[in-house]
Amino acid sequence: MSNIVVTPIPLAQMRTHRSTKWRDFPADVLPLPVAEMDFEIAEPIRTLLLEMVSHSDLGYLGSIPEVGTSFAKFAQMRWNWTVDPEQVHIVTDVGVGVVEVLRVLTQPGDKVLINSPVYHNFSTWIEETHVTKVDVPFGDVNSGYAIDFDGIENAYKSGVKIHLLCSPHNPLGRVYSRAELLKLVALAKEYNVIIISDEIHAPLTFSETQFIPFLSVGQDAQDLGVTVTAASKAWNLAGLKCAFVVSQSETMNSKLAALPEATHYRASLLGAFATATAFAEGGDWLDGALRTLDENRHFLKTLLSEKLPTVTYEIPACSYLAWIDLASLNLGDNPAKTLLEKGRVAFNPGESFSPNAQQYIRLNFATGHDVLEEAVNRIIKSL
Ligand SMILES: Cc1ncc(COP(=O)(O)O)c(C=O)c1O
Repeated sequence: MSNIVVTPIPLAQMRTHRSTKWRDFPADVLPLPVAEMDFEIAEPIRTLLLEMVSHSDLGYLGSIPEVGTSFAKFAQMRWNWTVDPEQVHIVTDVGVGVVEVLRVLTQPGDKVLINSPVYHNFSTWIEETHVTKVDVPFGDVNSGYAIDFDGIENAYKSGVKIHLLCSPHNPLGRVYSRAELLKLVALAKEYNVIIISDEIHAPLTFSETQFIPFLSVGQDAQDLGVTVTAASKAWNLAGLKCAFVVSQSETMNSKLAALPEATHYRASLLGAFATATAFAEGGDWLDGALRTLDENRHFLKTLLSEKLPTVTYEIPACSYLAWIDLASLNLGDNPAKTLLEKGRVAFNPGESFSPNAQQYIRLNFATGHDVLEEAVNRIIKSL
């Protein structure tokens, strides 16, 4: 086991960052939305990027087999999933990957299923490709955010063509079990549905839960499934623009052969080599980041239990996003707006993940304890 300690960057330094999280709000607002971490990046990636920039090595990207081979090794080691590196296709980002796959697999108007609350861009990708959104929401917190299999079967029966799965799940922090995935695969096979599994948060699954890659659960999953993922979430590289699409059967490979070749070239050279380095050499840093995040998810629980005991927050099984129900605080129709205006603290509003989640916020806890404490103090100040 490595001993890399991943510590948060001090707030004053974070405030000089150029990313959307640090640019979108006035200076007196404490920002905790947007899924990026306030952490130093992994040393091997920093070294690579510094070398590429200092050598002016910033041209177009050609064939980069290192992305497929390094991901295949990582997937085998962490998840016991055998990936064919030849079937790892680079795209600009996960959004572009899903949109391009949807373009290949659907006609305008086809039905695409999501399960809300879910990452808000699932809806924008669906709009962008002119398909029709169908939503079968998860059960509530008391049900353990249960999957509504009957609802899903009815939706499949009604002619859903694609099921867009968020696995593991943002914002619920939920990791699908093998049994759940197998049940979805059986239904999808019965009703001829294709499942696109967005697995961008997978490397951030905490150790008490095993992440199960969709394409690893058997031949049927491989025949009807396609995975879109990236190193960008787990290694904090979103601005570098690189993700990839993975398929694993003759059936799906031949369908995806229609993906435009140009999707590869629309990723960035820096992003592709940073991705290969993340999977090949970033394991120790990832484990360090997970230790920090593990500590933070529990720290936040303690903080909320002590200072805001009526709010609901289930400790997530993956990633660094806390899904918090603020209904008991009576902050009005739009708690995130109230908190921004009164408390000068920013979160993602629940309603961007589901029309039924107005009383929720999504809080990013990949930051320092001081920031988390201040965020909770600002919520209290807004009451
Ligand atoms: C589930 C999920 N998919 C995709 C993304 C964004 O990925 P990209 O920037 O590669 O489009 C996010 C970002 O938070 C996410 O949570």
